[in-house]
Amino acid sequence: MNPYPHILVIFGSTRQGRRGEVVTNWLKERLATCTDITFEFVDLRNVSLPFFDSPSLPIYGHLAPEAVSWAAQVERADGFIFVTPEYNYGYPAVLKNAIDHLYHQWAHKPAAIVNYGGFASGYRAAEQLRQVFIELKMVPIREQIGISMVPGMVPSIADGPDSVSAAFLDRAFKGMMKELLWWATTLAPARLAEQ
Ligand SMILES: Cc1cc2nc3c(=O)[nH]c(=O)nc-3n(C[C@H](O)[C@H](O)[C@H](O)COP(=O)(O)O)c2cc1C
Repeated sequence: MNPYPHILVIFGSTRQGRRGEVVTNWLKERLATCTDITFEFVDLRNVSLPFFDSPSLPIYGHLAPEAVSWAAQVERADGFIFVTPEYNYGYPAVLKNAIDHLYHQWAHKPAAIVNYGGFASGYRAAEQLRQVFIELKMVPIREQIGISMVPGMVPSIADGPDSVSAAFLDRAFKGMMKELLWWATTLAPARLAEQ
């Protein structure tokens, strides 16, 4: 068992010129101040997976050869933070592809979401993602962070450190982490007992 919960942060935008790096940088800065976790950041640009086309299914233990190191990375984690934009009411296909390549590696682990987008702030993408989490036996965390990239909409991470938005987002981060860590700590021994 890891001495501190090991949290994998999975960034779901890979498009050229993506704007989500503002969000991931904000998140990484805050995670670096947490002394009660270890965390690892995964940029799906660096996880070279084909479009899922395996004849045999991850639920039966089969892994595509290209997914072996991705599986090990997810297996090591005690919990997840998915950072996702909203594309046409959903989350990016590249994120679904990375999820579908695995099955058991996700199970019985908590998953939090930091969503961002246009006028909808990514909340609709997050709702769809929660449904997928349940199918994979993850535990969706209620507390989440939603950020709009539209100027003038709040909360925005561009408003500066003394703004109402900054205070709101810091509170939201603390609330999300408290819940994520509670579940990560609670579920780790139960997973161990299962083996
Ligand atoms: C293909 C596409 C579809 C989008 N659909 C939505 C949408 O349904 N709702 C929304 O609020 N924003 C939508 N947006 C705006 C994005 O969420 C916003 O531009 C965000 O910054 C995209 O993340 P990225 O730049 O990191 O890829 C869409 C953007 C793209 C590229």
